[in-house]
Amino acid sequence: MKKMPAPYPGKMKNPGLYLHVPFCEKLCPFCPYNREKYDTDKYAEYEKSVHKEINLYAKNVPSQKYVSLYIGGGTPTINVPGLVRIIQHMKASFALDDCDICVEFHPSHMEEDCLRALKQTGVTLISIGVESTNDDLLKRLGRNHDGKTALESVRRAVSMGFRSVNVDLMFVLPGQTLEQLDEDLTRMLGAGIDQISTYPIFGFPYSEMGMEQGIRGIRRPDEALIRTMFDLIAIRSRESGFERCAVWSFLKPSRKKFSSITRHHYLGFGPSAASMIGDHFYVNTFSVNEYVEALSHGRPVALVMEVPKRIEMAYWLYWRVYEMRIPNEEFSVLFEQELEEVFGRLMLIPRALSMAEKNGHGYVITEAGAYWIHRIQNEYSLNYINRLWGRCRATPWPNEVIL
Ligand SMILES: C[S@@+](CC[C@H](N)C(=O)[O-])C[C@H]1O[C@@H](n2cnc3c(N)ncnc32)[C@H](O)[C@@H]1O
Ligand code: SF4
Repeated sequence: MKKMPAPYPGKMKNPGLYLHVPFCEKLCPFCPYNREKYDTDKYAEYEKSVHKEINLYAKNVPSQKYVSLYIGGGTPTINVPGLVRIIQHMKASFALDDCDICVEFHPSHMEEDCLRALKQTGVTLISIGVESTNDDLLKRLGRNHDGKTALESVRRAVSMGFRSVNVDLMFVLPGQTLEQLDEDLTRMLGAGIDQISTYPIFGFPYSEMGMEQGIRGIRRPDEALIRTMFDLIAIRSRESGFERCAVWSFLKPSRKKFSSITRHHYLGFGPSAASMIGDHFYVNTFSVNEYVEALSHGRPVALVMEVPKRIEMAYWLYWRVYEMRIPNEEFSVLFEQELEEVFGRLMLIPRALSMAEKNGHGYVITEAGAYWIHRIQNEYSLNYINRLWGRCRATPWPNEVIL
């Protein structure tokens, strides 16, 4: 990706909007996301600049219907009135009628007032970063909430009647036993939620935890333990009536899926937000100060990449693999070519390894495939996300990052 001018998008395909809120009350040492400690004055500057960025896009992008608004962080609810103002401005500037508004929550920032205000503003799908309900593990992770708060927050959210409530758990935590994971699963699956997502903890070299351990010291969690825990998550989720809906998620039948990856094209707002507009992919500067400064006279885009059609197709395929379904029809609508023609040969390998199967609608990923994709994601995280995010966190305006 290079430092170069980013074109504004024209008409996009199934476009979504993304907002990044880069502030948290306490910075968890394992976290790879772009975030900094919350400060009221800095938030005010950030908010002012987000409104400017919304105005810029509203003026320069042809009017079109968006399929969703996704708000991630950081902790989006760190300043609820600010978030409500931004959502209202987005709704007034882009065609978001009837679309889902998805928000990531931290268990310590979801009091009833906050949940009610967001529901009234149109938030429909929510995800809660519980991570674990075990107090010792939460302390070891550097989280600023305990298991009781997490469970109460989840129950409160469920009682508010959102369209869907997802809970994030992490596993293979330092010193975590199978029994502790089992207890987390029992508590969460029994709390009335619609979806559960589980991630094996990974020490990104540039996260505080990664820095402390040193790049050479970053060890992969034990393979056999990951496998046993991965299997336990599937068993417990199915026993509770959930079905796998993505490599890392299980959903109750007929409930709405919470997902950050279903949009083909999207426009990103806020520091570090990425935009995929079809023929270009670009990312905003990660620095809040530089983001604010850039918006005083122009756009905050730091790095841009041209996207040839074949790469756009590969990008689509990558995310469909995570969702375990690769539908022929969606591919032909988006690209006016047949999936089989473009990726049929490539799919022979996962089929031969029993990781994928062909059916009348395209391909599905098998359970064996789900496990390996889960594992490969760590490679991807290290190689791609680490290179791009690590560099962008270190330098607000890098000249180039080779992916
Ligand atoms: C932006 S956070 C969720 C919202 C909120 N900031 C919070 O922490 O509760 C997104 C999720 O990514 C997962 N995550 C973060 N760091 C991770 C890591 N190093 N390894 C695996 N999963 C991680 C956690 O499950 C976390 O809930
Ligand atoms: S895990 Fe969540 S709360 Fe913790 S630093 Fe990352 S974004 Fe913030």
